[in-house]
Amino acid sequence: MTDLAALFAPLTFAHGPAMKNRLMLAPLTNTQSHADGTLSDEEFTWLVKRAEGGFGLTMTCAAHVQRIGQGFPGQLGIWSDDHLPGLTRLAAAIKANDSVAAVQLHHAGMRSPADLIGEAPVCPSDNDEFKARSLTGEEVLQLKADFVAAAVRAEKAGFDGVEFHGAHGYILCQFLSAEINQREDQWGGSLDNRVRLIHEILIEARAACRPDFQIGLRLSPERFGLKLAEIRRVAGMLMTSGLIDYLDMSLWDVGKTPIEEEFADKTLIDWFAELPRGDCRLGVAGKIMEPAYAASLLEKVDFVLLGRAAILHHDWPLRAAADDGFKPVSLPVTRAYLASEGLSPVFQDYMAAWKGFVAEEAA
Ligand SMILES: Cc1cc2nc3c(=O)[nH]c(=O)nc-3n(C[C@H](O)[C@H](O)[C@H](O)COP(=O)(O)O)c2cc1C
Repeated sequence: MTDLAALFAPLTFAHGPAMKNRLMLAPLTNTQSHADGTLSDEEFTWLVKRAEGGFGLTMTCAAHVQRIGQGFPGQLGIWSDDHLPGLTRLAAAIKANDSVAAVQLHHAGMRSPADLIGEAPVCPSDNDEFKARSLTGEEVLQLKADFVAAAVRAEKAGFDGVEFHGAHGYILCQFLSAEINQREDQWGGSLDNRVRLIHEILIEARAACRPDFQIGLRLSPERFGLKLAEIRRVAGMLMTSGLIDYLDMSLWDVGKTPIEEEFADKTLIDWFAELPRGDCRLGVAGKIMEPAYAASLLEKVDFVLLGRAAILHHDWPLRAAADDGFKPVSLPVTRAYLASEGLSPVFQDYMAAWKGFVAEEAA
């Protein structure tokens, strides 16, 4: 049997509090917030239950930093001080459970549905497929300022840190992509230009927040016109920059090999795990269900993020610590089961759209 002890060793960061174990709750959109982006009791319950269940760090879902960056109905907002009371209540309750509290900062860019935001979505460049319009130079500066303002707001609410969402084809990822970003100014063209927005946000957020504020970044290496070699360069540069405390690589399946054939001799995570990290910590997410598998990944990375496993078991960390034979329930599960794990009907509906997750009930 694999030794699970590695999962329960604390992890320090260059800034901010240590995690008591190597288990981070992945950011999980749950569509439970109020229409104006303020926190609901349902979202509070769902997240605080994960903190109670032993996660070393509890991260919110993607929270949008501008009103027009909303990507989902019922998304948590962090673009206005009106969001502060709910965020403050949430941060306090997560921390009261000895879990590090973080907000994921997000802007959907071209992927914001027009009917949700009431206007055409924005993008680094005009995009016919998404009917998105390009940001003016002034709007790029405002976007940067709003990401930084959201980090400051998270700090004010009492969170220990934030993670900037640079993955999954959302706006920061759109800037990174040579396919989507066709700009000819300082924000487009060379890789240095395409990473400039993320880089400047990190520099300015570090300067604007207190010295021990924890800053993470999520990247994904494929799709949306991304090139593995480029994302590897970005990861290497940022991990050794002193700007980020952790890099969270979102792979959807940790065992996956790259799409690009020239890199297919190793798994995706190997391409990142072998890079010098400086004092940055590296984590990975993607189909990590079983404790033994999670523990085995710690030979490559410093921590793991659990998404669907944490939806299934709010107390996955406590269970794995108590029983080294613990196996998560198999899919699909019933709505009643999800309710018992702290998901409201709205979140249960959202999970029903994820293939094979929720059992169809007999009519
Ligand atoms: C319901 C659901 C919502 C998600 N929402 C987000 C999100 O808000 N931000 C994000 O970066 N990733 C999001 N993801 C991706 C997860 O954070 C995670 O990387 C992915 O699910 C793979 O991990 P898993 O196999 O453990 O679920 C979401 C995934 C799921 C299943």
